[in-house]
Amino acid sequence: MRVIIEEDYGAMSRRAAAIVAAMIRDKPALVLGLATGGTPIGLYSELIHRNREEGLAFSRVTTFNLDEYYGLPPQHEQSYGHFMRKHLFDHINVPEGNIHLPDGTVVDVDAFCRQYERMIDEAGGVDLQVLGIGADGHIGFNEPGSSLASRTRLVALGTRTIKDNARFFQSNDQAVPRAAITMGVGTILEARTCLLLASGTNKAGVVAQAIEGPITSQVTASALQLHPHTIAILDQRAASLLRRKDEYVRSETLLRELRAGGPG
Ligand code: F6R
Repeated sequence: MRVIIEEDYGAMSRRAAAIVAAMIRDKPALVLGLATGGTPIGLYSELIHRNREEGLAFSRVTTFNLDEYYGLPPQHEQSYGHFMRKHLFDHINVPEGNIHLPDGTVVDVDAFCRQYERMIDEAGGVDLQVLGIGADGHIGFNEPGSSLASRTRLVALGTRTIKDNARFFQSNDQAVPRAAITMGVGTILEARTCLLLASGTNKAGVVAQAIEGPITSQVTASALQLHPHTIAILDQRAASLLRRKDEYVRSETLLRELRAGGPG
């Protein structure tokens, strides 16, 4: 796994945006996997800025979100559909028909989940998957104990996740849905590149487990160690408990020099 450590949240977001933008410029019809939550908001505002000021075009980009609360319609203020419109889709030129999120209102969930996977396949697979990490190590809503081969499905949210996500809801944690539809770990691992973002001291322990600990279904983000092209972009605080922190910094600097100047 490539580990990039930036000074703070702003620098992490700008670095992530530079990677996403370069990939869109390289492949304008990029299939982009997206996450919600607090972490990628800075990345999304950078992308909006690049769309407006630098002409970064989303007109041929297709998006697939990782997850959606089960039971919330897309117009619900706390739905991830609403979150994505507010923080990204309403401000860039991505065509409505290219946007995909799991539908939290479907009755036949299993059929819907199979169809979501089929739509990803028909789009040619996800080129770049943006990921955050939960305090319990989840990616998507793949809570501890999720199979590392899991596919898109209905899941129960862990108590820790319900508590953490209560901050996005006006009232108490009673209002947070107890279930969600999420891409599976196996689905996520099929993306050609994964971009894991983490910021803040409260993520430091779980980031260290995911990057340097054993690969385990108890920390589903650790499955990214099996992925050939994962880039983790962390701020200093989220990186603070990595044992090999200095090595990652050294390696990034050396590789940058080599790419710029060749082996001589
Ligand atoms: C959201 C998602 C989750 C979040 C994770 C971190 O679509 O898939 O895995 O990325 O819960 O959330 P924040 O960024 O709010 O700490």
